[in-house]
Amino acid sequence: MVNQRKKLVVLSGAGVSAESGLGTFRDNGGLWNNHSVYDVATPEAFHNNPELVLDFYNQRRRDVYKAQPNPAHLALAEAERDFDVTVITQNVDDLHERAGSTDVYHVHGLVTQARSSLTDEVFELEGKDIHLGDTCPKGAQLRPHVVWFGEFIYHMDEAIGFVEQADIVIVVGTSLKVFPFANLVDYARADAQCFLVTQDIDAVPYGFQYKQGPASTVIPQLLAELTLS
Ligand code: OAD
Repeated sequence: MVNQRKKLVVLSGAGVSAESGLGTFRDNGGLWNNHSVYDVATPEAFHNNPELVLDFYNQRRRDVYKAQPNPAHLALAEAERDFDVTVITQNVDDLHERAGSTDVYHVHGLVTQARSSLTDEVFELEGKDIHLGDTCPKGAQLRPHVVWFGEFIYHMDEAIGFVEQADIVIVVGTSLKVFPFANLVDYARADAQCFLVTQDIDAVPYGFQYKQGPASTVIPQLLAELTLS
């Protein structure tokens, strides 16, 4: 039977990009095992040692440019043929967009963009690094357009609305340890079909079916099953 354009909301995290070669945060060898959040991912860190913070995100950006979307990103983009898909991602990479997804919300920002530390105006970096002394037109230092600990995340209200309206919710590649993003699973309707796809998880949210395994395998299979059902 042809699907009636069900609303599919994807809540993604670092694990969806792991098989594209981008590190996760909390797995063995993850970014937060090798770097202190307090040294590189807070407004205080940027105030105290801006060069270290800029270098850290310049490297992240170079890694993102080298990476390619994997079969999980591609399958989620192709799912737009059958579903009304909204991707809400914690990832600061642009792999969902490069795979072809057209409705992507970056709640933690995008490392491929810079932001004025004065006006919040956002600029495309087009592959360039950000250096100390690079400024916005108003003369304020540019910073990476990423959300640091202690800062507000983007699009939270819209994200809640999308999850509340979803017929299907797929959570993929996130440990659900960072709030408020992790709260989004609580807004899924009782009659929605809800899935969690990760390699490992401490607690599966209530009402979610756990599909353990690599996103690049599990996501295409799951979407194929949902398309046929
Ligand atoms: P984490 O590193 O906390 O969790 C990654 C999740 O991905 C874990 O549950 C892994 O089991 C899973 N995983 C790893 N490889 C996978 C694969 N190939 N297929 C499927 N799942 C896989 O990353 P996030 O939950 O995304 O925020 O982290 C959330 C936020 O914490 C990030 O956005 C970042 C970080 O601090 C900011 O920097 C603001």
